[in-house]
Amino acid sequence: MNIDFTYKNPTTIYFGKNALDKLKNELNNYGDTILLAYGKGAIKKSGLYDQVVSILRNSNKTIVELSGIMANPTYEKVMEGAKLVRGNNVDLILAVGGGSVIDCAKAISVSAYCEGDAWSRYWIKFEPVDNKIVPVASILTLAGTGSEMNGGSVITNNDVKLKMGRVFPSNVYPKFSILNPEYTFTLPAYQMVSGIFDMMSHLMEAYFSGEDDVTSDYLIEGLLRSIIHSAKIAVKEPQNYEARSNLMWSSTLAMNPIMGLSKTQDWEVHMIEHQLGAYTDCAHGMGLAAISLPYYRYIYQFGLDKFVRFATQVWGVDDTGKSKETVALEGIDAMEAFINECGIVSNIKDLGATEEMLPLIANSTVLLGGYKKLTATEVLEILKAA
Ligand code: NZQ
Ligand code: ZN
Repeated sequence: MNIDFTYKNPTTIYFGKNALDKLKNELNNYGDTILLAYGKGAIKKSGLYDQVVSILRNSNKTIVELSGIMANPTYEKVMEGAKLVRGNNVDLILAVGGGSVIDCAKAISVSAYCEGDAWSRYWIKFEPVDNKIVPVASILTLAGTGSEMNGGSVITNNDVKLKMGRVFPSNVYPKFSILNPEYTFTLPAYQMVSGIFDMMSHLMEAYFSGEDDVTSDYLIEGLLRSIIHSAKIAVKEPQNYEARSNLMWSSTLAMNPIMGLSKTQDWEVHMIEHQLGAYTDCAHGMGLAAISLPYYRYIYQFGLDKFVRFATQVWGVDDTGKSKETVALEGIDAMEAFINECGIVSNIKDLGATEEMLPLIANSTVLLGGYKKLTATEVLEILKAA
């Protein structure tokens, strides 16, 4: 390992079927006013909303509600929440939902008392947060983003057609997160598999970069194998608790920055997907899958040994008597077969992308890169292939 690092993760995780029982105790640590933030209705349908409200009422909390947080949350929605926080002197933002709700909660947390335009300060200029931060906690209903135990907050600004991610330091992480895998049982298959590819992509973004022999790479291979194993079960048996709990915890670990510590990382697939999302509003994991296949087929020669390792260690490709090229490509083929088996979308047209959008997406994509730093023209080629 050649890169020094500091690691701090302050989120308390309550995991399992009875995890919600811990909410009441945790609430004692915060003041009286809670902003209950949630999406477009899934938690009302499942009954989770009623359970949470009942615990909040029994704890004598005043509830302020922010409902209708959309997938790919907008800056406009963040501003709506920020106004509620200031106006009601909110003591804790409790996000109940998937990554979009939790990301939005963190964005509200840092924006409510920000002087000046939070978008340009925190998502464009990446300034450190110098104002009051309102504590956030989460109850997770979709496994994929890892937002429940990280500082990530990905926000879409429709005025400028930009979807920008920011990883805030540990004081913005959820103070505690409640993870009951049963809450994911009500997810439509489409959202479940989108989340599955998202968690895999977080691991691959960290994996496909750097030449060092680092501990992270071994952790990532193990986690990917666990996800692939449990995903195949969950697709056939959505109510399989063991598979859903493995996926939920794997997802939290995958995007808790611990997996990528001590190594250089890629993140170009995410950068392209974010702009694809800004233009199409597609499900994040589906966009990642559609881009990953042509992207990895384009860059694999620049990190050939690692793609060979990926093929043999993650996908079990037999390399006997084969060239490195063949093995590497068989690994990517195995990933494509998995994508198809799970019903993950692998075509950006099916996600709403049109020919006219492609140059706009390519030209607004942030260029990071691991084994190869792309140009906007290369991004365009990848989008066409996707
Ligand atoms: O709006 P509701 O009614 O809640 O429905 C949601 C939404 O329609 C639904 N859903 C969630 N839990 C459910 C459920 N439906 C039935 N039963 C349940 N238990 O699923 C839909 C998608 O939810 P969303 O929160 O948008 O999905 P996800 O968790 O995949 O979050 C995606 C967002 O997170 C960002 C993405 O870019 C995207 O904006 N990311 C955040 C990251 C982070 N914080 O570290 C990293 C990721 O790479 C990612 O960029
Ligand atoms: Zn992601």
